[in-house]
Amino acid sequence: MQQVNIGMIGGGTVGSGVVHHLQHNGTLMASRLGVGLKLAKVAVKAFDEPRPYDIPRALMTTDWKEVVHDPAIQVIVELVGGTGLAKDMVVTALKLGKPVITANKALLSAHGEELFNAAKAGGTNLYYEASVAGGIPIIKAIREAFVGNRFTHLYGIVNGTCNYILSRMKQEGADFADVLADAQKQGYAETPPDLDIDGFDAKHKTGILASLAHGFWVDPKRIYVEGIRHISKLDMQFAEQLGYTIKLLGIVKRAEGKRPKAENGSRIQVSVYPALIPNAHVLASVNGVFNAVFVRGDVVGDTLFYGRGAGKDATASAVLSDLADAALDLVHGSHGRVPPFVPHERAGTVVPIGEVVSRYYVRLSVIDRPGVIAKIAAILGAAKIGIASIIQPEGHEGGSVPLTLMIHDAPNATMQKALAKIARLPVVKAPPVMIRVESFA
Ligand code: HSE
Repeated sequence: MQQVNIGMIGGGTVGSGVVHHLQHNGTLMASRLGVGLKLAKVAVKAFDEPRPYDIPRALMTTDWKEVVHDPAIQVIVELVGGTGLAKDMVVTALKLGKPVITANKALLSAHGEELFNAAKAGGTNLYYEASVAGGIPIIKAIREAFVGNRFTHLYGIVNGTCNYILSRMKQEGADFADVLADAQKQGYAETPPDLDIDGFDAKHKTGILASLAHGFWVDPKRIYVEGIRHISKLDMQFAEQLGYTIKLLGIVKRAEGKRPKAENGSRIQVSVYPALIPNAHVLASVNGVFNAVFVRGDVVGDTLFYGRGAGKDATASAVLSDLADAALDLVHGSHGRVPPFVPHERAGTVVPIGEVVSRYYVRLSVIDRPGVIAKIAAILGAAKIGIASIIQPEGHEGGSVPLTLMIHDAPNATMQKALAKIARLPVVKAPPVMIRVESFA
């Protein structure tokens, strides 16, 4: 049986997971693939850094160049993370014509096109199943299984930390800060937590999915991002009363409205923000650290992918899948069979959030006095924004009371402008809270 020699850079959580599962399932994989997978070297930060699974000492080195430049090593797995040194590692390997497997969403988001070009120039391939939603095979699904579809809608719960925090806030009626602190204590959230809770990790992943689905590499600067820091237990409770759950969603949708004359490609919305989603929608039941990606194709219709989006085992599973593809491509000389990314829609555009049309949940803190609703309704009416419902829950005593409004479809810019006017009314006592509502139409 032919054998492919693998070199890995990064021996932390995911890296040691790959080592462990290759040791346990390597023979099974070889019998399925007809190719043996041999781990030849692992570059680590330090020999004795804490890791969930042991890595044999004989495989370890602290010099990544020793791995990449070893002529016997045919495939490189990059599990270092970040956009600095990791980029050098990936580009060096690709220039040497060695296929690279990466889980690095930040690197792909920032430098995707450059890396794919480097792979092409090196006559090799770049595999990145592990970069989005861990163990869920969503890259393969979009790129291969759904190749005959146009993608109209894609919604992802792609950050386990945020989903864990929001799930607990809902289940326990708890505040964001308390759940975050506990999640950090238990190791479910990183310290500092910013990359996750401010939506940047979800932005990287959503950008990768959008790029693949729509055929142009999405500039991360064009992706609108809102995290979950501002979600309060009060809004969770009101959402629940209205029949909704709040989830951090990565959203990729074909944009509505007319295409400006200067543009001739497809126009898409690519955003990450917390949204109220109907309890009856299947994504509302995705709880805890789990991820899910909902994909609507014009041929296949609605599909849903669910699983663990992070961690030593689920992410290792995605790396093993890429290892299998890389090994088969090497052995059969077929690296171009499934190119990593094909820019087939160069003229595509991401529409600015201001033009995106959505529904909204708005919570105001107002003085409980006659005429208040009339003033608010007048501003919304003048902006041609329709109110779907208004609730002023009873039992709130004090200087101000909450007033929640569900708002019909309106462009984000129009809504923001109207809210700014409402915020200036003397009867409004705190900055308005606005959360978009996603109905999956
Ligand atoms: N920190 C990510 C999450 C996992 O919470 O889902 C790695 O992308």
